[in-house]
Amino acid sequence: MTETNYKMKGCPALIAFLADTHDTAPGPIFAFLRSRPPALIVHTGDFLHGWKQQSCVHMEECRNAMELLRSCAELAPTFISIGNHESYLSGNDIEIIRSTGVTLLDNSYVTQDIGGHRLVIGGLSSGYYTAFQQGKISASESYSEIKRRHKTPMPETGWLRDFADADGYHILLMHHPEYISKVPASVELTLSGHAHGGQWRFYDMHTKQWRGVYAPDQGLLPKLTGGIIDGRLIISRGLSNPALIPRLNNDTEIIYIERC
Ligand SMILES: [Fe+2]
Repeated sequence: MTETNYKMKGCPALIAFLADTHDTAPGPIFAFLRSRPPALIVHTGDFLHGWKQQSCVHMEECRNAMELLRSCAELAPTFISIGNHESYLSGNDIEIIRSTGVTLLDNSYVTQDIGGHRLVIGGLSSGYYTAFQQGKISASESYSEIKRRHKTPMPETGWLRDFADADGYHILLMHHPEYISKVPASVELTLSGHAHGGQWRFYDMHTKQWRGVYAPDQGLLPKLTGGIIDGRLIISRGLSNPALIPRLNNDTEIIYIERC
């Protein structure tokens, strides 16, 4: 695990940004957070491991994820959004997650005052979660079955205009980076994960940048796998490896963001 630092103009607080922990053991991540305590912790989703609800049907079995969220909430105000691996959560599951002390944002936003500055923090839920809530996909369908029937389910974006119009510095937690075209341009900072850095990374001699080989919902040679894009989207390479193949040239990362 490496530490990656970004400086953003206007960012009013030191933010620790977690993504794609997938029920991994929380000890190393939390030790890192304790060594450099942030004013705010955010997690853009995929804190659980299971894709199918059957693999993670009882929240009490997701001990690592719950311990991580509880520890984060005890250290600093913690805000999370819903990734595709949380697609099949029930209303009761959501309440159990909220009981850890985190603020779970499901296509909604809140305001938070820190050091005399107002933050407006929103969470755009994965389209897979929204499709499940709307009865368009079922918990018995595999990822490939859903892709075959629906392609990539779209997120619920109707609330984003109100979010962008609220007074303050806007931070949008958006698990899928490929949704970025739907985010109003006035949103100062959007944070994403999901791509796991593209799993294998290589140096592209043409663009003179590192890029990934494959990402879910973007396919081969994806464009959005890590780093900072257009000065307003930061993509985490994630903090675990739930895939059956190893990561290559692609350390997991914990990200800190602060004012320029
Ligand atoms: Fe994901």
